[in-house]
Amino acid sequence: MRIPIIAANWKMHKTSEEATSFVSQLGSQLKAEDALETVLCPPCPLLALIAEPCRKYGFKLGAQNMYWETAGAFTGEVSPLLLKDLGAQYVILGHSERRQLFGETDQQVSRKVRAAFAHELVPIVCVGETLQQRKAEQTNSVVGEQVSIALRGLDPSHVRRVVVAYEPVWAIGSGLTASAHDAAAVARHIRKIIGEMFSLKVARDLRIQYGGSVKPENIDEFLREVEIDGALVGGASLDPLIFAAIVQNALGAVAS
Ligand code: 13P
Repeated sequence: MRIPIIAANWKMHKTSEEATSFVSQLGSQLKAEDALETVLCPPCPLLALIAEPCRKYGFKLGAQNMYWETAGAFTGEVSPLLLKDLGAQYVILGHSERRQLFGETDQQVSRKVRAAFAHELVPIVCVGETLQQRKAEQTNSVVGEQVSIALRGLDPSHVRRVVVAYEPVWAIGSGLTASAHDAAAVARHIRKIIGEMFSLKVARDLRIQYGGSVKPENIDEFLREVEIDGALVGGASLDPLIFAAIVQNALGAVAS
């Protein structure tokens, strides 16, 4: 049984006051739910600040990135040890903005995924093709390679807990979305690759989110696909009322 997971990726947005006010507004809109996990991923300096209110309302906390070392002379980096210490349970890894703007490679993502599990953080591993790759019909090969490098060498007991976020690069912040049907086909391909690498059981157990211009009006379409277990939400996660509507509509889709 895969519990759907809706995660807010705030990217580089919000001050401390905006963050605390968001959590209390979201908390007043949603009641604690076992049927769905709600995860907030603020910029790292805000983690400690919202950890307690998140606990109170039953929201989980995630980071947006980390380094793979536990400590040391790595100026500007944040360790998995510290993320865990600050209350994070999840960490987004390999987001396309990190890959494109900061040159992150599949190999680095793989090291980070292993480090996350070493510190009991669950990685949300982002994969997705560019528009050019989609037009060249390379979606499955690109996504397949990203997934297999990110997960290779992992213990199957860890792989089944991974969350894969399929985020087509061209759908991020563009207002364009993959059709739910296409996103489900890519999710099926991801499970096929993982089934071959590990086992069918592992492939069936892990959760796959869709990301890219998700909003209250389209979330149910994605969640009605059996292959899709949630969403990673960027722009529409910045307003507590809009994000609450996404979570509520997701719950409705799961229940129907
Ligand atoms: P948008 O929802 O703004 O398209 O961003 C998606 C994303 O990058 C989430 O990680």
